Amino acid sequence: EAGALWGGRFAGGPSPELARLSKSTHFDWQLAEYDIRGSRAHARALAAAGYLTSDELVGMVTALDALEAAVVTGRFLPAESDEDVHSALERGLIDLTGVELGGKLRAGRSRNDQIATLIRLLLRDHAATLSQLLIELIDALAAQAEVHADAIMPGRTHLQHAQPVLLAHHLLAHCWPIVRDLERFADWGRRADFSPYGSGALAGNTLGLDARLVATDLGFGAVVENSIDGTASRDLVAEFAYITAQIGIDLSRLAEEIILWNTKEFGFVTLDDAYSTGSSIMPQKKNPDIAELARGKSGRLIGNLTGLLTTLKGLPLAYNRDLQEDKEPVFDSIETLEVLLPAFTGMVATLRFHTDRMAELAPQGFSLATDVAEWLVKRHVTFRDAHEITGSLVKYAEEHDLELHEVDDAALQSISEHLVPAVREVLTIRGSVESRDGQGGTAPVRVAEQRAHLMERVRTL
Ligand code: ARG
Repeated sequence: EAGALWGGRFAGGPSPELARLSKSTHFDWQLAEYDIRGSRAHARALAAAGYLTSDELVGMVTALDALEAAVVTGRFLPAESDEDVHSALERGLIDLTGVELGGKLRAGRSRNDQIATLIRLLLRDHAATLSQLLIELIDALAAQAEVHADAIMPGRTHLQHAQPVLLAHHLLAHCWPIVRDLERFADWGRRADFSPYGSGALAGNTLGLDARLVATDLGFGAVVENSIDGTASRDLVAEFAYITAQIGIDLSRLAEEIILWNTKEFGFVTLDDAYSTGSSIMPQKKNPDIAELARGKSGRLIGNLTGLLTTLKGLPLAYNRDLQEDKEPVFDSIETLEVLLPAFTGMVATLRFHTDRMAELAPQGFSLATDVAEWLVKRHVTFRDAHEITGSLVKYAEEHDLELHEVDDAALQSISEHLVPAVREVLTIRGSVESRDGQGGTAPVRVAEQRAHLMERVRTL
């Protein structure tokens, strides 16, 4: 078949059914610019090893530059007959150079080492883009934390009122997992800093090409140590997909809270009109679709990871065509997050918090009971007794339909001699949060410090 990379030993072209199945240009075209970069580096390695004269190298690089420009502007596109991005670009190159020169480029490389290299290049670029988008989300959350430095909300465990916390503390708690996602990308980048180019089909190449030249040219720190590993492994792709899935999960946990906070029952937030949607039938509706899409897309991101891991399981070394199935899932995860994150960050940045409502609810549900117990401990009551006494106080308040601070002095005394009026100093939400001043605690001084540490950590990534 005209233009195919492997016609020699075959009697005729592939069946139309095979051609249709085998075709990958509809997704691997995303790799075209990386493929050309790889080809330019490879041409230089060929020239260094004596397989291209310096004139030929100039001709080759000039043609590759022209081809790149045609790809970028969309003037050069894969044809129906092209099997994959590599075949299409070889066809384009030979159109420019003639077969005499263009036909020399493929020496000493295989699509197997090419594709393993190109996917790393693409993922490195998107790790950088996604990291930037994550930093913007952290900035939006941290800015809300700064604006609402004093606001107190009900902190929950089991979704029940537990202890009052600063809203800023809660918002920053959503930042730290994202900081770790950033660190995961950075750490992944260190493992992905090895170039598989030069591994050939699996066993290396015989032409004496300097793989380090190609690696440096492409911005890798080093060359893979093992050509079989270089062509057959995709753990780095799976790890990347894991990071995107983890980001999806981190977003979806915040999304779920925003959805709850935005209900009539909570009434903690109002979404900006530009970041919410309406209903086609109910005129009054204003829906948190961005948060819901974030929650929903986390399922898709997990699915992409799961599919990829399943593809890799049990694959014998070295290259198998199954490995082509690594691309669509991870490309989809990238696209999903690169569309989702800007919308999500916009939603967060424009959220209006109803801090009066939060403060009103914060002491309800006996959320200051632990403060009472710890106040008793400070007065040298054993925690066991303190827990018991405070439990009786809660029981009394519940039976009389009171909050803890509404129980009068006489009743306090009747519950325990230790419950003197001074206990009221911890029966305010302000007193409660201020007293939690150990490292990582919700006291305003600690939270301000935490915010500074967060910003510092992001800056020094
Ligand atoms: N398109 C393939 C992939 O994505 C690379 C080509 C290798 N093909 C082959 N028949 N060895 O993995």
